[in-house]
Amino acid sequence: MSTPYYLSTAISYPNGAPHVGHAYEAIAADVMARFQRARGRDVYFQTGTDEHGLKMAQTAREQGLTPAELGAKMSAIFKAMCDDLAISYDRFIRTTDADHHRAAQALWKQLEARGDLYLGRYEGWYSVRDEAFYDEKELRVGEDGQKLSPEGTPVEWQVEETWFFKLSAYQQPLLDHIAANPDFIQPDSRRNEVVSFIKGGLRDLSVSRTSFDWGVPVPGSENHVMYVWLDALTNYITGVGYPDGGEAWDKYWPADCHLIGKDIIRFHAVYWPAFLMSAGVALPKQVFAHGFLLGEGGVKMSKSLGNVVDPMAMARRHGVDSLRYYLLREVSFGQDGSVGEESLVTRVNAELANSFGNLAQRTLSMIHKNLDGVIPPAGSEAADLALLEKVRRACEEQLPAAFGEWAFEKGIEAWLQAVYAGNAYVDEMAPWALRKTDPKRMAAVLGTLAAALRPLATAILPVVPTGAKAVLDQLAAGEGGAPIAKPTPAFPRLEMKTEDA
Ligand code: MSP
Repeated sequence: MSTPYYLSTAISYPNGAPHVGHAYEAIAADVMARFQRARGRDVYFQTGTDEHGLKMAQTAREQGLTPAELGAKMSAIFKAMCDDLAISYDRFIRTTDADHHRAAQALWKQLEARGDLYLGRYEGWYSVRDEAFYDEKELRVGEDGQKLSPEGTPVEWQVEETWFFKLSAYQQPLLDHIAANPDFIQPDSRRNEVVSFIKGGLRDLSVSRTSFDWGVPVPGSENHVMYVWLDALTNYITGVGYPDGGEAWDKYWPADCHLIGKDIIRFHAVYWPAFLMSAGVALPKQVFAHGFLLGEGGVKMSKSLGNVVDPMAMARRHGVDSLRYYLLREVSFGQDGSVGEESLVTRVNAELANSFGNLAQRTLSMIHKNLDGVIPPAGSEAADLALLEKVRRACEEQLPAAFGEWAFEKGIEAWLQAVYAGNAYVDEMAPWALRKTDPKRMAAVLGTLAAALRPLATAILPVVPTGAKAVLDQLAAGEGGAPIAKPTPAFPRLEMKTEDA
């Protein structure tokens, strides 16, 4: 029986088109899901859209749609993005799904039964963009005198009747849990941030709204809708069968990891575990916060600056594999990093097309041309063994160790060093020169290269599923009787284009 592995992404607000930040998170999670499957884990991978709340209601009104219509239209676009980027999710959840509605209300009733909810009056600063309340002391003042949240979004004063959740009662239990489970919040810097936020004092949290109705109704208080974050966070348990339980629940909960961006760590590492503790549900094993993608020069992407990277346009112009590889290779996972199209083209050409792609292409076409497409056994000279050992270490030890702790760029770097070693070996052995002088040695060299290519392609398969599979399929032909056909490059060279072709 293989060990289960439950991984989720944040569910996106579909009030605008997906941007590269959404693609980045989906790709990173997908690489992890594919990597874990390849290791034999029984993976459940969930992503989706967060469709309730004031932000969706306001955007819908601006567009002359109902919130439900806006949600349906935009959610389909997010799902299509995932499909186009080869995201191998098991469920694409929507907070408007019927089972989610039920799960959110069931969780609410648990909090109520525990005595953690009470009715009160809320006065405070609310940011519609963040869907969050903030303390006066957290605010800053923008250039035009407007008060801003710590995320830099405008806040407005809200006064309304609301249900409160006794978050203050969970201050110590949360600190104890974090101290006892150092992997619960990763990377470490994020954990420190959360710990100091909790130590600063937790105030009870407003968890219902009466000023609009686009949300899950509060059981027993139908003029209230549930706070969109309480509703949204519940998606993680909806997907595995809460509140009924059953096979998926027993197998996958608690989740292995909630992958999120650093801007929403407070919701996942403070509110969510407090809700779960209150409801008597086990906490997820890990919340991993990745960094932010920035425009070229390290500036925030924004429409007015014109440096917004459209993930779908990049994928159309340069291919899905290229985008996936670039985003994980370029930015050290967990940190912020700048991305841009020119840098994508440069890196993909240097590392995929000219290095790995070239190694595969040279090897396969020499086997096709000189050996009737049949792969010979690997050689056993010192140089052959040294290459295969380097490849083995990179693919079986270094890359898996790094990927296992979300250090994608480190794993890819180790893999790339082995690819470089492969190309250096070809240049040194010059098999084309051996064709006349020593055909036996030529065959051994090409056999060694094929034996190196197989683990290299397998190791990188989670990152570049299409190109790596093409290489493996060609190799499989050479092993199984059918000879290797004249190969076509699995990683073609890219050209810098700024318009869609
Ligand atoms: N709906 C909430 C999440 C609810 S999870 C129970 C939300 N949605 S979002 O659409 O604003 O963001 C979705 C994810 O994309 C978040 O994890 C967020 O951090 C991530 N990113 C948004 N912009 C990003 C970048 N520029 N770079 C990297 N990730 C970014 O928050």
